[in-house]
Amino acid sequence: MRIGILTSGGDAPGMNAVIRAAVRVALGNGIEIIGIRRGYTGLINIDVLPLTRDEVSNIVHTGGSILESSRCPEFETELGRRKAAESLAHQGIEGLILIGGDGTFRGGALLAEQTEIDIIGVPGTIDNDVYGTDFTIGFDTAVNCALQAIDRIRDTARTFERVFFVEVMGRRSGFIALHAGMAGGADSLVIPEEPLGVEDICRRLIEGHRLGKKSAIVVVAEKENPGYSYQIAQEVTRITGFESRVCVLGHVQRGGNPTAADRVLGTVLGAAAVEALTEGKKGHMVGMVAGKLLYTPLRDTWEKKKELNPRLRELMQMLW
Ligand code: F6P
Repeated sequence: MRIGILTSGGDAPGMNAVIRAAVRVALGNGIEIIGIRRGYTGLINIDVLPLTRDEVSNIVHTGGSILESSRCPEFETELGRRKAAESLAHQGIEGLILIGGDGTFRGGALLAEQTEIDIIGVPGTIDNDVYGTDFTIGFDTAVNCALQAIDRIRDTARTFERVFFVEVMGRRSGFIALHAGMAGGADSLVIPEEPLGVEDICRRLIEGHRLGKKSAIVVVAEKENPGYSYQIAQEVTRITGFESRVCVLGHVQRGGNPTAADRVLGTVLGAAAVEALTEGKKGHMVGMVAGKLLYTPLRDTWEKKKELNPRLRELMQMLW
């Protein structure tokens, strides 16, 4: 058997642990495994390399992806996917492992309709917004990165009695904001799931000030609009008179050494993806739910919405 593996969309720490595990489990089972460079772009253009044990040595602790990644508009067209299907057939690849998020799986599901190839997804995105797994690979590392920043900012916020707006990643979801915000003791969150307006933030800050709080931290998910915390901060200062500052964390959250949790999750899911292909499973994403492997149809991973933990949201309302 010959299989391919690629990483697509935003990179996430722990993707290399997936590649390493997949390669070693595949080779151990006599399966040839081909790395496809730069996601769907490399699939269309046949930019590939055979993966060996050596090729995946000394990568388990590294961020990014040794296979590189891309967002590929050509793959969104039927012609692009046809080229990809032809490239797979030309190379004799029978199974394909896709490591990425919802956009990657959307493309994968469409590709599956145009080819006989078996496709298995592995959830790798810092955003954690993929249905069918408790956590995606890279999320834990990103949360810890944001948390470290919040902890540092708290020191200076307290010293200068300021309100800080810390903007974290999360295009359509507030997972990073909620988890880092809770761990960092944030006063308020601004997340896509909740229409918390500027007036609400101000009300809470004023009440906190009346109760003796000298500084505050508001964690904001960037949504589609990185940098929009500056507007919120300006408005809050205008209404409350409190001095504010903004810190936009941006892509720093996507890099760095993966945490132990992301390395373990990546390893388990990378191995499971190869095993799934050998068992003839296809068109599914392998995830981990309540400590057990779970196979979810690729289409469900984005059509069904993964909800934020309601208890964490409730606690955020109580603890400020
Ligand atoms: O990987 C997901 C993500 O980090 C989102 O949170 C963010 O909105 C987006 O990627 C930014 O991606 P890029 O800068 O690569 O287009």
